[in-house]
Amino acid sequence: MRRPPPLARIPREVACLTDYEPLARERLDDNAWAYLAGTAADGVTHAANRAAFDALTLNSRVLREMSGGSTETEFLGMKLRHPVMVAPVAYQKLYHPDGERATAMAAGALDAPMIVSTQTSTPIEEVAVAAEGSPLMFQLYWQADRGATRALIERVEAAGVRAIVPTADAPISGIRNAEQRAGFHLPAGIAPVMLGQWPPAQKPLSGHPIFDGLLGHAPTWRDIEWLLGTTKLPVILKGVLSPDDARRAADIGCASVVVSNHGGRTIDSLPPSITALPRVVDAVGDRMPVLLDSGIRRGTDILKALALGARAVLVGRPLMYALAAAGPLGVGHAIKVLVEELAVAVALTGHARITDIGPEAIFR
Ligand code: FNR
Ligand code: LAC
Repeated sequence: MRRPPPLARIPREVACLTDYEPLARERLDDNAWAYLAGTAADGVTHAANRAAFDALTLNSRVLREMSGGSTETEFLGMKLRHPVMVAPVAYQKLYHPDGERATAMAAGALDAPMIVSTQTSTPIEEVAVAAEGSPLMFQLYWQADRGATRALIERVEAAGVRAIVPTADAPISGIRNAEQRAGFHLPAGIAPVMLGQWPPAQKPLSGHPIFDGLLGHAPTWRDIEWLLGTTKLPVILKGVLSPDDARRAADIGCASVVVSNHGGRTIDSLPPSITALPRVVDAVGDRMPVLLDSGIRRGTDILKALALGARAVLVGRPLMYALAAAGPLGVGHAIKVLVEELAVAVALTGHARITDIGPEAIFR
């Protein structure tokens, strides 16, 4: 079957992020699609992420002074034009031949910090060139031993990343039935290139073609403490839903946490991250900025996350659908659309600045 090439311009019909999904589907084979769009098991958590955002209603306040409006914010010393970040997504060459470089070009042009996956299909140094100085962070999956993990950290530090983001919620793959049915595999020419030099010993755990051997080394709190002593960069713990875990992360010196259920890809029946957010913010919000991902599709979703205490959000699948549909142009357009939607939502709820948004923005 012939697949259409990536679009060279964005058609008028592409008005919002979800418009990219069918365009991506047409351009990807069943193998890549199963990995990208897939969820854990029945997709209950994946669907619940959306349902929870949709169930939150906004409080509109009218006739307020709106001059000097802005989506600017700050995160760990970085001044941000807006609170949209690119979530770490593995193997982006599965979706577009330019993979992570295309995403980084777009993220750089739109001032969106990008978190590069341990399983990037493009070396960090090339991603950094494409990002043109715009902030990159590095998502860390544990390697076979501390030496290998340290080597990876030193390499990304040298490439100029601003933070290390260990992912805590996926020490092994979830049950991914869509991938099993599609017989998911990495096609020739796509590989976790950062890990080539340090192939971890095979230690089959999940029977998954990608996680076995790569992620078969589950870190513990002791490893996070070791990481904090090994890097001078801020450490952001990704994949936290429990306030107790967030508190422990703050206690040992993490700079931030990402409240996340991994986009519903780890264990099905986890709560929506937007539902878990308020308790995490109660536990640590005065000590560290809190990030959120899983289910962000609209500017109003971002506003809801900010209202419930998130400083900024990460976006995963929608940006990859845009990458598959239209390469860097698509990713850039998708980020721009989200930020514009956010600005409209901020104004129409009676706020001038996103830093003014608080719990009263949610209708109760
Ligand atoms: C991911 N995610 C992810 N997370 C991580 O820490 N390291 C990784 O390598 C990956 N890889 C990855 C691949 C694919 C195909 C997807 C869809 C997701 C999870 C990602 O960072 C984020 O938590 C979710 O994607 C957020 O949910 P949404 O925005 O996709 O709903
Ligand atoms: C995933 C891993 C790589 O979600 O985090 O597929």
